[in-house]
Amino acid sequence: MTAKPVLLQVNNLRTYFSTEEGIVRAVDGISFTIHESERFGVVGESGSGKSVTALSIMRLIEPPAGNIATGEIFYKGRNLLEFDDENMRKIRGGEIAMIFQDPMTALNPVYTVGNQLIETITLHQKVKPDEAFEIGVDALKDVQIPNPEQRMKDYPHQLSGGMRQRVMIAMGLSCNPSLLIADEPTTALDVTTQAQILDLMLHLADDRGTAVMLITHDLGVVAGFCDTIQVMYGGRLAERGSTGEIFDKTLHPYTAGLLGAMTRLDEVRPERLYSIKGAPPSLINPGGGCRFAVRCDFAQDRCRAEVPLPREIAEGHWAACHFATDLDLSRVKRKEAAR
Ligand SMILES: Nc1ncnc2c1ncn2[C@@H]1O[C@H](COP(=O)(O)OP(=O)(O)OP(=O)(O)O)[C@@H](O)[C@H]1O
Ligand SMILES: [Mg+2]
Repeated sequence: MTAKPVLLQVNNLRTYFSTEEGIVRAVDGISFTIHESERFGVVGESGSGKSVTALSIMRLIEPPAGNIATGEIFYKGRNLLEFDDENMRKIRGGEIAMIFQDPMTALNPVYTVGNQLIETITLHQKVKPDEAFEIGVDALKDVQIPNPEQRMKDYPHQLSGGMRQRVMIAMGLSCNPSLLIADEPTTALDVTTQAQILDLMLHLADDRGTAVMLITHDLGVVAGFCDTIQVMYGGRLAERGSTGEIFDKTLHPYTAGLLGAMTRLDEVRPERLYSIKGAPPSLINPGGGCRFAVRCDFAQDRCRAEVPLPREIAEGHWAACHFATDLDLSRVKRKEAAR
């Protein structure tokens, strides 16, 4: 595992939402560490708490319905949960930037690309507007947007989806953040554009030494790009380890199921992703025991009775399964695609 200094340390994070149906335990006791310049992948089915984890780090959970019930989020040694709004604004964009799936929701349709880039840059750097313009043009050049001076004058709707996502990456990286959180940044794009943009984003991050937390449904993406993979299930950790260990020394039946259901590289049919039997758990009344037990081929009485806490089975390789070391998961992983 990486020996680089710790950048972000999340301890026992719980983020809940009050709804008419009850309290949604969207993130329910997650802990993890991201090191400087690490590529940290987060995967899990829809509703597993990936975005809520990211939004909690950014302190973008909207009260009063949403709140961080417990936990600590140490960024460079300081707990972000104790920051006031003004200090948090300096962190957002300047230290930790986030890119969302749909750039149309993040870009303001009534301002030009240039206006928005310049605003982001002047918010975090002490530069004059004309210098900010130059920095913005350079940022667009970095993400390989042709005629950047011209594109600065465009409104978001004048750009293609791929170009908008490049603008988001340019904005995200324009203030040299130490951590870039990319939440399904390319799932709205076609497969070829997806791959190009991810490749570009991760190369730019590498050049700058920026750590990346890449959230995606696609295990193929994290396999290609990430050092570490964190698999989430029902708002909790299922398994985390180096990419090699996750693929070759899988410990959790859920991870094995994801690997088995993974789309083969030669048959791009996204609807087949995660065709694991059963449905994700209710986060309102999840019940005791392991949340995956009802879908798990290996479940025993203990799984239904006792919550499996994450255990470090090998160095840096964690699994939240009572029987992590006892199972033969090869049958579940059988359909695993060649990487
Ligand atoms: N504002 C909210 N109010 C109520 N429940 C919410 C809110 N935001 C998220 N949730 C719930 O929290 C759970 C986790 O949501 P989250 O968006 O983190 O999932 P996700 O893993 O990012 O899924 P996806 O892959 O679909 O993006 C879901 O059950 C979701 O319905
Ligand atoms: Mg999400």
